[in-house]
Formats: sequence, C-alpha cells, structure tokens
Amino acid sequence: MIQIAILGLGTVGTGVAKVVAENMRQIERKLGEPLEVKTILVRRFKDGPYRQLMTSDFQKIESDPSIRVVVETIGGVEAAYEYTRRALEAGKHVVTANKQLVAEHGCELLDLAKRKNVSYLFEASVGGGIPVLHPLTQCMAANRIDEIYGILNGTTNYILTRMVRTDAFFSDALREAQAKGYAEADPTADVEGIDAGRKICILADLAFGQQIDPAAVPMEGISKLSLRDVKVAQRAGYRVRLLGRAVRLPGGGRTAYVAPHLIPEDNPMANVEDVFNAVMVRGNATGEVMFYGRGAGELPTASACVADVMECLQSSPRRDEIGWSPSMEGFVDPLELKARHYFRIEGSLTDAATAFGQVEVLSEDGETAFLTESLTGRDAARQSRFLNVLACMRVLS
Ligand code: HSE
Repeated sequence: MIQIAILGLGTVGTGVAKVVAENMRQIERKLGEPLEVKTILVRRFKDGPYRQLMTSDFQKIESDPSIRVVVETIGGVEAAYEYTRRALEAGKHVVTANKQLVAEHGCELLDLAKRKNVSYLFEASVGGGIPVLHPLTQCMAANRIDEIYGILNGTTNYILTRMVRTDAFFSDALREAQAKGYAEADPTADVEGIDAGRKICILADLAFGQQIDPAAVPMEGISKLSLRDVKVAQRAGYRVRLLGRAVRLPGGGRTAYVAPHLIPEDNPMANVEDVFNAVMVRGNATGEVMFYGRGAGELPTASACVADVMECLQSSPRRDEIGWSPSMEGFVDPLELKARHYFRIEGSLTDAATAFGQVEVLSEDGETAFLTESLTGRDAARQSRFLNVLACMRVLS
C-alpha cells in the first residue's frame, strides 16, 4: 500500500481524493500496489466522506514515514511554500497545481527536491488536465523552443465565450465560472491576467531554461475589454482571446506578457471556447505543436496531479531533467515585439491615417476601428499618442 497526503480540501484537493478512489483499480494496476490517501490537511474540519482523514497539524504528515507523496493544493504562497519546503526536506515527493508558488519559487524548490533526491512535479499548474509540461520537457526535449502562446485561463475564456454567444453580462458569466469551480479564490487573478501570467512564466522557465519573474511580466486581463471590440473583430474575421505569450528573440533575449489579442479565425486557437485551454509550442525541429483540453475544474486538474503522484513513485528515484536557472538576464520588454495592432479611436479615418499611414479600416461610425501595419508596441504607443484611443490590442499573425 502506497500512502499519500493532500494539503487542502478545496476544488483540486477534493478532486485528487475522488480520482484516487474512483480510479483505484487502474492506478493499482499501473503502480503494482494500491494507492491510498492517508491524511488530509485542513484548516477547519468539515463533515463528509474524508472526515476521518483530516488533521490540522502539518507535523503529523511531515513526520509520518509511511507518507511518500504530498499533494499541495492549498494555493497561494505563504503556507504552501512552507509546507512544500518541509515536505521536501523530510524526503517526500511533492506534487502541486499551485502556479503562483511554482512561478515564484519553482527554481528554488526544484533545487531543494534535487538535493533531497525526490521529485517536485507540477503538471497541473498549467492547463489543468492538459498534458503540456511533460511533453514540453520530454517529447520536445531535442528542440530549441522559439515561442509559446496560449489560452491559459479557463475562467476568462469561459466568460468571453458566454458574453459573445449569449450576450451574458460579465458579472453573471464570472459567477457561473466560480460556481463551476474554475475561478481562483480571488477571481481578480483570473480576470486581470495574473493567473495566465504565472502560467506563461512556468512555460517559459521550462522552455528557455531561465527564470522569468512574474513581477517583470506585463499582464493585462479582460476587465477593460469592451464587447464592442469583440464584435467588430468578429465581423472582420477575428476572435478575441486572452493570450499568454513567451518569445525567444533573435540574439538570445526572451520576453513574455499576457494580453487580449485578435486571432484570425482560421487559427485553431480562435475556436477554443468555454473552459478549454490551448497551448501552441513552436520548436525549431517540430514546428508548431498544439495542446488542447480542459484548463480548469476539479477532475481535469486532479487527473494531472494524480498522474504526477504516480510518476514520482514510478521514476526511480526522481525525474531530473526539469529545472531552470534563476538568472533574469536577457529579459526584454515585450514592447519591442512587432505585430499588427488593432485600434478603436474616437476620431476619423483621417486621424488614423495621419498617425499610422496605411491602415485597414474595420468599422467607421463616429469611432474608427482599424488595423495597422506590423510595428513594435513601442511605436504603436508613440504614434497613437495624439489620438483618443478607446481600445488597442495586438493581432496574432
Ligand atoms: N482559475 C484557473 C483558470 C484555474 O480559470 O484557468 C486553473 O488553473
């Protein structure tokens, strides 16, 4: 019998306990032994099927030699960081879905895990149930990764889809996403692009082998996005999606950011709807590879956590190839990236042409929506400084 502990019993923690119980036979067949949740760390005891397993004392888990893997589903940094460190120090493998902790402290925790000869795995931290980190670090290991972009937040994609399809209000769509267990405890992290930002940092850390500090990454969410722009874009053959994007620059620099984009409707990313996420990875040997699936929710996220638990137990003694250097050297402001830009201005086509020269008009009715030629974000900001800009987004090419 292999025993594990779960820290936290929210959406993901509950999902982990369910997957371990419901898929008991498949898991046992693959591990060669039954897997059991022995202890669950909670702040407050609740009645229910897991009542007998609960403790509020982490020391019980830390000092229990029969617990080989700790699944951290607390979220946030403070307590999660402390318990993760202590579990690794105690020689236990740790598995997590906690993107904030991995984005901010992953480098250090991976290092500690290596020193202790255990694994720290976090497949569920990006893309929920989509296998993306393992393929990126293993199946694509022979590539130089040049670019990653993706719809990395299920809550905002769900909100956008509901608003466009059914004219739902932003607040109603957000409430639905919360009720379905997609949103963070504080949904500001979803709506303002912070959650997607943490995920693109993790992807970029692994892909480029160097830390990208989330604090250095510009993150813009969907709270300022107007349905008007979404509809103008749609009529012109584009979909608006919140993307996290990380790019390796010629000359060795790298950059990352999160922002809403116009995506041409023939790009598969344009048709990713509801809670689904998609991640496109461009390797210099593979070309573009796309990963698609449910990006949030109890069971998809738990599925990735339990698979990591199984991997910790199977890989003898640990998976060594993941990790990155703590250096931020070479990080460049994404304003240096070139793209066509979408603008909606209070003004005429003449105003647009005066600022940008040749533009492609998308709508004109007192306000003017148009696309520029390809230019850097810095030039887009400089050339539009005398315009009354109502909206501006990059176009994905
Ligand atoms: N709040 C996150 C999302 C959960 O909506 O994508 C999964 O990381």
